[in-house]
Amino acid sequence: MKFYITTPIYYVNDVPHIGHSYTTIAADVLARWKRLNNYDVFFLTGTDEHGAKIAKAAKEKGVLPQDLCSEMSAKFKEAWQLLNISYTDFIRTTKPRHVKSVENIVQTLFDKQLIFKKKYEGFYCIGCERFYTAKDLDENGCCLLHKTKPVLQAEENYFFKLSTFGDELLKRITDPTHKEYIQIQPEGRKNEIIGKLELGLEDISISRTAIDWGIPLPFDKSQTVYVWVDALINYLTGIGFPNEEFKKYWPADVHLMAKDILWFHSVIWPAILVGAELELPKKIYSHGFFTLNGDKMSKSLGNVISPEELVNKYGVDSTRYLIVTLIPFGPDGDISWEGLTLKYNTDLANNLGNLLSRTLKMAEKNFNNTVPPQTEPNLCLVKQLNDILKENFVYNMENIQLHKASENIQSAITFINKQIEQEAPWKLAKIDKDKLASCIYSYLQAIDIIAMYLLCFMPEIAQKIWLSTGASGNIEETAKKYFADFNIPDDGFSVASSKLKNQTILFPRIS
Ligand code: MSP
Repeated sequence: MKFYITTPIYYVNDVPHIGHSYTTIAADVLARWKRLNNYDVFFLTGTDEHGAKIAKAAKEKGVLPQDLCSEMSAKFKEAWQLLNISYTDFIRTTKPRHVKSVENIVQTLFDKQLIFKKKYEGFYCIGCERFYTAKDLDENGCCLLHKTKPVLQAEENYFFKLSTFGDELLKRITDPTHKEYIQIQPEGRKNEIIGKLELGLEDISISRTAIDWGIPLPFDKSQTVYVWVDALINYLTGIGFPNEEFKKYWPADVHLMAKDILWFHSVIWPAILVGAELELPKKIYSHGFFTLNGDKMSKSLGNVISPEELVNKYGVDSTRYLIVTLIPFGPDGDISWEGLTLKYNTDLANNLGNLLSRTLKMAEKNFNNTVPPQTEPNLCLVKQLNDILKENFVYNMENIQLHKASENIQSAITFINKQIEQEAPWKLAKIDKDKLASCIYSYLQAIDIIAMYLLCFMPEIAQKIWLSTGASGNIEETAKKYFADFNIPDDGFSVASSKLKNQTILFPRIS
């Protein structure tokens, strides 16, 4: 089975920050999860390089737009490499393969008479890359999002007949039995979209005369394709469109993004696809916005946090974990350095770190740093864990509730720590070595289970944990088998008498 997941393609006028990283890490966690479930995964990300915003940024820097795009696009690639993002392809909208794909779609819509020419006047906000009418602006005539005054522009443009798709889209969004049902999540944002659709749609301008940094319209080279239409089509280009090979992965299973661009993805994009007679994405998930100490992150406020800053403080895998689990996935949430450090210390240094260090120390001291012999089969703990975790975790991952999935793992770790407190194995060392062996054996197996659940969040640390407990085989291969049926081999994962691999402390406490 295939699974096709996308992130937005990011504008190259900005450097990658933890807002972009949030969506990208979340998509990576889901892509890794589906791979562990034996799906053939295609994970697409990339950069959005055309339009007025980019042309303006290049002009301000005194460089050519294409040079700015190449420089900034490379920065996104570097950031994703730093964060161990396992994308299948990274798309750039200025590349020839994308130009070909955009021309194809726009020409198809034109041939189907869904595009027409019209004089138009509107307020264009470069920050949003869209036209507004006066009623969309605040009392000072400013864009609600950017607080800047959009310029009144009058042009003769090509328009897409968006207004004819309203009823069809409403059906597909609201009727789960529709064969091309498109699921918009979370529910609250879906309802906002439905509310707007019920008010009726207006046709939208899909070309620009005044902006030459774009793809020329195939049927009128004096105009360029509106950057949002250009950008959305990346989801087709990335998997090979217009070549037939794109059908291997299309339709997308999940388009992931924040709420700021849900309208484009849940209305304009599906309308273009219906118009071009292509299937619709199955799910569109819009998460909330990070704010930092209550403020929106922005270059002008100077409060933008880069992924490097987090990685320098917490390490790669802990950064991945913290970014996607710190706030509930869906609503907006505020973050702070204090909050990040507190969560790091609570979940990782204390709960998980403590479990690892005390178990490994006991094995080192009492069993010569090996997995103790299995004096009596003791997989009770592992089986209990299996029951606690499997349904909840799978449900939360499938519903993109990543913070809840991480809470499931934390509860399981707490459960093992409590079991250790109850069994007090340190008291057994002198009186019952067989019982001690059996306890430690079971803790090691339990840690192996935790490592498999952590794998999509913390791929390298999970691997290190796996090696430290003397578990046999490759963690990914074992996890693939485990997640297929949740069966636990009779003798567990860490094999009796294998050597434990000493690790440097994985989660040093941070102040
Ligand atoms: N280029 C368009 C997207 C085109 S997709 C066909 C664009 N680019 S963007 O660079 O502005 O990226 C917006 C996206 O970045 C958001 O939808 C979200 O995924 C991510 N985020 C940027 N800042 C964010 C926060 N502060 N919080 C959460 N996500 C954020 O829009």
